[in-house]
Amino acid sequence: MNAISMNVVTLFYLVASVCFIQALKGLSSPSTARIGNAFGMAGMAIAVVTTVALMLKLQDSLGQGGGSGFVLVLLGVVVGGAIGAYAAKKVEMTKMPELVAAMHSLIGLAAVCIAIAAVSEPWAFNIATRETPLPFGNRLELFIGTFVGAVTFSGSVIAFGKLSGKYKFRLFQGAPVRFVGQHILNLVLAIAIVALGLMFCFADGVAPAWTPFIAMAALAFVLGVLIIIPIGGADMPVVVSMLNSYSGWAAAGIGFSLNNSMLIIAGSLVGSSGAILSYIMCKAMNRSFFNVILGGFGGEAVSDAGGEKEQRPVKSGSAEDAAFILQNAESVIIVPGYGLAVARAQHTVKELVDKLTERGVTVRYAIHPVAGRMPGHMNVLLAEAEVPYDQVAEMEDINGEFGQTDVVLVLGANDVVNPAAKDPKSPIAGMPILEAYRAKSIIVNKRSMASGYAGLDNDLFYQPNTMMVFGDAKKVIESMVKAID
Ligand code: TAP
Repeated sequence: MNAISMNVVTLFYLVASVCFIQALKGLSSPSTARIGNAFGMAGMAIAVVTTVALMLKLQDSLGQGGGSGFVLVLLGVVVGGAIGAYAAKKVEMTKMPELVAAMHSLIGLAAVCIAIAAVSEPWAFNIATRETPLPFGNRLELFIGTFVGAVTFSGSVIAFGKLSGKYKFRLFQGAPVRFVGQHILNLVLAIAIVALGLMFCFADGVAPAWTPFIAMAALAFVLGVLIIIPIGGADMPVVVSMLNSYSGWAAAGIGFSLNNSMLIIAGSLVGSSGAILSYIMCKAMNRSFFNVILGGFGGEAVSDAGGEKEQRPVKSGSAEDAAFILQNAESVIIVPGYGLAVARAQHTVKELVDKLTERGVTVRYAIHPVAGRMPGHMNVLLAEAEVPYDQVAEMEDINGEFGQTDVVLVLGANDVVNPAAKDPKSPIAGMPILEAYRAKSIIVNKRSMASGYAGLDNDLFYQPNTMMVFGDAKKVIESMVKAID
């Protein structure tokens, strides 16, 4: 068999890497996101085909021919690809964060499995012979890759459970799990993991030191669970992007062990973009990263949700009343939130906006960076309804305009417009919000007076210039459209 040359492998890996960088660049704006995705798919296809060819080359050089290993890998690609395609096609937009968490868990698990295989048969990976021990550098990389992979796996499983919110298992529930000495326990575990890892790295002899390695991996799985369970409520977006980052670093660590530049590059891109996203998310909530990871912000808020609720008067009206106010306004800002996604009302909103625009009303959408349940959720939703990008404004660009706006229409959003963020005693103190409360009049559509994700009451709903329109977003907006006809 004519094996592919190493230069060609490197060239294709370089092309795939450029595709991944283009993908990230494209995904940074809704208008280029589709092409970014196409680059990502092309890069991944090139990387997979090149890696299969490289595997054949390695088998050739080891004199092992094609063999059953190759068939198993192909089977993995086909079965894994089919499951991935099916899951991505079937998943509802609101369930996307769970899917992402599930995928991160698989990356973490894959990193652990590869590390175990490399420790057990390093000669099959070309990193040692049967007679020589694993070099120190490789041991260190395998230790780090296994540690990060195991934390990513178990942490993502917990994040998956918390995000889906449909399991009775206590650790899978949104409310944080806290106990006395939690941080100390985490610290002790981390120290034990490092000590066991060093024992593995410095062990004598050709045979690997399995006992410290397995113990280290087991403790890392436990640590992953312990790190995520105290985090609840409003901090989940940061957890998901943090785990995204971890999964990238785990892949990069394994890439070093396997001497695979593609894994190193793709892993580092995922690792660093996930870290940057975590930073952006933290900034959007005005939290420090360490405060989030060590703190359990959102926990108090969630547990407050069941507490006593003030009975204050609210003004409510019908969809027809709202339509009347909207068509008589000069400027309208629409604030979409999670409820809009749940109601799948994005197409109906576009219809409403088209009608208002035809009547000379200036309408824009205001997007909060953590509106919905995943980064970019609202952008994706509006893009799906083909809302023109120039109607969509980010928080920092539009916040100054609320004061001069006639009507703000809040659709299924709650926390992101909650003025409680301005109160230093509130659990969401300091979180930047869309300043809807400054508008001349405010119309809020939701189904009830129930709180949002952070579990807090919202003063905006009780303002004298606010009108609540209760009901499912889709039905209410449809009635508004009809009323404007
Ligand atoms: P939320 O604060 O969760 O409020 C959504 C509101 O939509 C709820 O109060 C709910 O009230 C209403 N709603 C639900 N179904 C509806 C329907 N069919 N029709 C009309 N209204 C409906 O959402 P938000 O303002 O978008 O804020 C996002 C929150 O989620 C933040 O706390 C954020 O930190 C958190 N979070 C964000 C992310 C990311 S990355 N974006 C990830 C995880 C968590 P009713 O039940 O009364 O209808």
